[in-house]
Amino acid sequence: MIRLSAVSRTFDGRSGRVEALRGIDLDVAEGEFVAVLGRSGCGKSTLLRMIAGLLPVTAGQITVAGTPITKPRRDIAMLFQRPALLPWRSVLDNVLLPVEIFGWRRAKHRDRARALLEMAGLGGFEKRLPHELSGGMQQRVSLCRSLIGEPRVMLMDEPFSALDALTREELSGELQRVHMETKATIVFVTHSIDEAVLLADRVVVLSPRPGRIREIVEVKVPRPRTLGRHAHLADVARISAELHELLMERDAPRGVPAPAGPAEPAEPAEEPASTGAGGK
Ligand SMILES: Nc1ncnc2c1ncn2[C@@H]1O[C@H](COP(=O)(O)OP(=O)(O)O)[C@@H](O)[C@H]1O
Ligand SMILES: [Mg+2]
Repeated sequence: MIRLSAVSRTFDGRSGRVEALRGIDLDVAEGEFVAVLGRSGCGKSTLLRMIAGLLPVTAGQITVAGTPITKPRRDIAMLFQRPALLPWRSVLDNVLLPVEIFGWRRAKHRDRARALLEMAGLGGFEKRLPHELSGGMQQRVSLCRSLIGEPRVMLMDEPFSALDALTREELSGELQRVHMETKATIVFVTHSIDEAVLLADRVVVLSPRPGRIREIVEVKVPRPRTLGRHAHLADVARISAELHELLMERDAPRGVPAPAGPAEPAEPAEEPASTGAGGK
């Protein structure tokens, strides 16, 4: 469904050239849920924006459903870390925004928008303004908006990372339901091992500077999954430990222990790249 062949991306900035991604080869099957896991700065957002058609590749090619990506498309939806709702529009009108932008039939989509909001537990909130809702509810609105065009591909950039832990878990459950119902192909970017293991069929681990695929780890745990006590705890623990080791490794080959140190996998590595002057 999604195919990346030798995809690279560099940025030329005032402070020099940043090689964000190098030689990414990846196939995502139709209906698959893939998580892209990596430290901050390793190119996750860049990867997603290229698949969405928001940013051109420097080299290589990306196709979705067999067609090269050149610009944003109706069948590909993108969900960002922040809900990005228009503050002066009601919840319903925010969900209907793509309908206006793309000029789809409003009457038909109005019913669908209401049904989506109902499904997301937001029935009765259609006329509210975004600021009247909690962060979790706002992100639900934004999820509904990304679903309004019945996308075949959903690209999600750390969509739950600004939320508290329980809301995050709740929304992860909802996302799994959406995935099972819509059978959409999902690429979900995260720096959280728990989130990746909870949600994904496969986890693509990126290594930083330049971003490359370090390893692809399969998660063979039946759905629906929860973070609580369940029957597959041993599998989840084993996969989480493996992902943890992959994230901790710097440039050591596999099997060689990473250098000892208090580094946290989810913590952004702030030191400037050896090639650039560190400016973002
Ligand atoms: N528009 C841009 N201009 C210059 N550098 C950029 C731009 N976008 C991203 N980068 C650089 O590319 C690298 C990867 O960034 P990003 O994809 O945002 O990483 P992540 O999402 O994994 O945190 C970083 O070094 C970042 O500074
Ligand atoms: Mg990012």
